[in-house]
Amino acid sequence: MKRLLTALALLAAGTVPSLSLAQEQNFRVGLITPPVHVWNKEVDAMGVTLGEMSGGRMGITAFPSGQLGNEGTMLQQLQTGALDMAWLTTAGLTLRVPDMSALHAPFLVTNIADAAKVLRSDEAREILDALPAATGTVGLCYAMTGMRQIMAKDPITSAADLDGLRFRITPAPPIQNFFEMFGAAPAPMPLTQVYDALANGQIDAIDMDHESILNFGYFDHAKNMLVTNHQLFGMVALVSGRVWAGLSDEDKGIVQAAAQKHCDQTVDQFVSEEASKLERLKAIDGLTITENVGQEFFGDIVERWDAEWSAQTPYVERMRALTASF
Ligand code: BEZ
Repeated sequence: MKRLLTALALLAAGTVPSLSLAQEQNFRVGLITPPVHVWNKEVDAMGVTLGEMSGGRMGITAFPSGQLGNEGTMLQQLQTGALDMAWLTTAGLTLRVPDMSALHAPFLVTNIADAAKVLRSDEAREILDALPAATGTVGLCYAMTGMRQIMAKDPITSAADLDGLRFRITPAPPIQNFFEMFGAAPAPMPLTQVYDALANGQIDAIDMDHESILNFGYFDHAKNMLVTNHQLFGMVALVSGRVWAGLSDEDKGIVQAAAQKHCDQTVDQFVSEEASKLERLKAIDGLTITENVGQEFFGDIVERWDAEWSAQTPYVERMRALTASF
């Protein structure tokens, strides 16, 4: 009764987007992204799929926009079982799972269709095997957001213009290293803080994807965009190892299948909509977009980055070999 009253109070307050009261297993899922993001819509849809597949026994309550804390905090909550599931960036996992850094190799791929192939590869799936020991979580499947681009307050015509720029990056050592290599001053910062940091001049530039640029409207304060496609940006659907251990084999099968369905739909949606999102950005008044900024713009950074990170994980060479075969 107490749970029912609490649930009703939360629903009445409008703080919980979706909550089924009669479910035996209502998974709490944390995300850093806002409700309009593709990930959040797919998480909500996954709740419906879980309900259908389990005869109404399972559902999802999503906590968007970093309501439960940043990705590091959510990872800790998964570890203790305080949180059931989370859709976290591959970037956020690199600190605990160094092999995941290989997915962030600069120019590993240069288009979103190839990014999808990487995330669906056996090599990428193998990296998930390290999650239980390293994080106390189980990686159910990969999805992604769009390819990474650069947005800056001032015009950028050469790599020299990036020198010394205070660049917001997603907190992750392989990303930080890339930006340091071209002389920027990386400012690791969770997604939820980026808009204000740009607005108040705390940062000069950001590393971001089309979906987030459109969702948050970063072009209000950064009017120059370089379409670099310099990195893919993955997501892992995680379940707490403790929660996983408490599920029957049948329920594990349901959760795995439901997650896979919505990871796949997320990847397919990003692949099919990447070009149209760029067209929407091109239509924005006052935003200057420079397209086709390739690897050569960054000089020898890819070679330098690979030399550094190959020493830390064998997956850099394996991923490069994989993408060379595309
Ligand atoms: C970011 O940290 O830039 C980010 C995180 C999740 C989704 C999209 C972007």
